[in-house]
Amino acid sequence: MKYFTLDQLDTINQGEQKPARFAVIGNPVSHSLSPQLHQAALDSLEKDARYIRVEVEIGKLAEAFTKMHAAGIKGVNVTVPHKLEALEACQQVDPAAAHMGAVNTVILNADGTRSGFNTDGPGFSRAIREEFGVDLSDLKVIIIGAGGGAGRAIATQCTLEDCPQIILVNRSLGKIEELATKLLRLRKTESLAGPRDRISSIALDDPALEESIAASELIINTTSIGLKSADPSPFPSHWIEPHHLVYDSIYNPSRTRLLREASKQGARVANGLSLLIHQGALSLEYWLDREAPLQAMRQGLLDSIKD
Ligand SMILES: NC(=O)c1ccc[n+]([C@@H]2O[C@H](COP(=O)([O-])OP(=O)(O)OC[C@H]3O[C@@H](n4cnc5c(N)ncnc54)[C@H](OP(=O)(O)O)[C@@H]3O)[C@@H](O)[C@H]2O)c1
Repeated sequence: MKYFTLDQLDTINQGEQKPARFAVIGNPVSHSLSPQLHQAALDSLEKDARYIRVEVEIGKLAEAFTKMHAAGIKGVNVTVPHKLEALEACQQVDPAAAHMGAVNTVILNADGTRSGFNTDGPGFSRAIREEFGVDLSDLKVIIIGAGGGAGRAIATQCTLEDCPQIILVNRSLGKIEELATKLLRLRKTESLAGPRDRISSIALDDPALEESIAASELIINTTSIGLKSADPSPFPSHWIEPHHLVYDSIYNPSRTRLLREASKQGARVANGLSLLIHQGALSLEYWLDREAPLQAMRQGLLDSIKD
């Protein structure tokens, strides 16, 4: 799929009817569905604006923001591997993004400065409310794959919302032990009450995981297990019970083995499409200062996945 490099930024509007005003940057970036999500929204709001992809090398983010601002871009989504570098390249950083250590949404201000936000965590919170009709803050959660980028953002959101239980699970235990220490510190700085054992960590292959799953209400998969249709469930799915809510951050395929087997166990399930939509909707709200057209965004995504 089409993308621009930094050297091509002076050509982004050649032969185009609408000027490029928003962009996603990443490396690689050609797979990103953000243009389908956001262009559908911009068109539905009748904005004279295009949303493009820009591939940026590691270490060149500040330069990229400067060049994009000069080219007339107003808002940027940041994806892998640039979310930490984006935080460092912003003059103003929203506190939640600072806690997450990652920026995925940037406003390129008229005076040349940049404001950074993270919509992954709050987008997840909105997705859970939409999918299951409950507040994340009321749920005992277990995050399978908490050591990855998506898992960390969700774990931080759960901490900020003071969930009654947060169990971090990962193949590599070191990553989540470090994360748990950070999140416990965050609880302290945010003056959140409650016992320290609200946040705990356990390895994916620990036999005690079955007990941790039984004690949870919301099971979240943020591993990449399930991206391939032949992938197994990240843990034995007969551990899932009818009282569980199961959220798989993967949206393509739309029904991973985890979700199929969880449904058979009688649990309520949802895939990651709602996370993708809500994190994008929140970005758009920062840029345009108005409510995002969720239905148009959902349709734009569904059309592109179907293609
Ligand atoms: N719906 C959305 O909008 C959205 C947004 C972002 C990501 N996602 C999805 O979330 C998932 C993670 O993305 P990410 O960006 O966080 O990736 P990431 O930073 O690379 O993290 C990958 C995670 O998966 C674990 N993992 C990978 N292969 C594994 C295996 N064979 N066995 C056990 N654990 C394994 C990793 O464990 P280790 O730490 O041990 O390596 C890590 O926890 C992907 O499936 C992605 O599609 C969805």
